[in-house]
Amino acid sequence: MFGKNKIPKAVETNKEKRLQHIAFIMDGNGRWAKKRGMPRTYGHSVGAKVFKKIIEYCGDSGIKAVTVYAFSTENWKRPKEEVDTILSLFVDYLSDAEESWKERNIQVHFLGDKSVFPPEIAERMVKLEQDSFDREKILNIAVNYGGRDDIVHAVNALIKEGKTEITEDDITSHLYTKDSPAPDLIVRTGAETRLSNFLLWDSAYSELYFTSTLWPDFDEKSVDECVFEFYKRKRRYGGV
Ligand code: IPE
Ligand code: IPE
Ligand code: MG
Repeated sequence: MFGKNKIPKAVETNKEKRLQHIAFIMDGNGRWAKKRGMPRTYGHSVGAKVFKKIIEYCGDSGIKAVTVYAFSTENWKRPKEEVDTILSLFVDYLSDAEESWKERNIQVHFLGDKSVFPPEIAERMVKLEQDSFDREKILNIAVNYGGRDDIVHAVNALIKEGKTEITEDDITSHLYTKDSPAPDLIVRTGAETRLSNFLLWDSAYSELYFTSTLWPDFDEKSVDECVFEFYKRKRRYGGV
């Protein structure tokens, strides 16, 4: 359990204030590698190991949902070699993470349009979702994800259902993230202070945490620091 001694007990046990959903924008792999005179792809392979470690750490904690931004709808602009490396690391991850998810009682969701992937990969993603649907905790992996694309996709689904007028709840319930509560905390590593098209609808009242730590240097202690900071925030939702 992370940060157990550090999190004030009264806050941790208060259901409404508890951190239920943490999201990570895993940024800084390329710069981390460059600083070491290595190719950007090396940063991604180290970043993938960190990704696995952080997910396991969060999975062992009391947090209900974790979302990670692995590849955006804009990341296709990168050189082919880099895109291919990121996607092949993702496929390797799918092969060896299944046991770890099962052991931790985690259901997995892939956020984003899967149809861009080769059919055998897309089918595996769907099967992993189906096989894990009744588990207690949630892991969302955003690949080929964009916050704007998520909203457009939801609205198109509503149009197909025949809706001519929609509510906020309609959109919320048709997003790729429909099975998760809104993120309480969004953490971005790598020193940039922007969302880069991540969870645009869901982040309306998320707490934002930016750190200059590059993703490959992020560790369990860094997670504890984010959680500790979260419990110091006052969430007002427009009230007083
Ligand atoms: C994040 O690291 C990983 C992805 C966007 C896939 P970057 O590759 O963006 O690393 P920097 O920001 O260039 O250092
Ligand atoms: C955001 O990082 C996307 C992911 C971490 C997957 P980017 O590196 O793509 O963001 P920008 O280009 O700096 O905004
Ligand atoms: Mg980046």
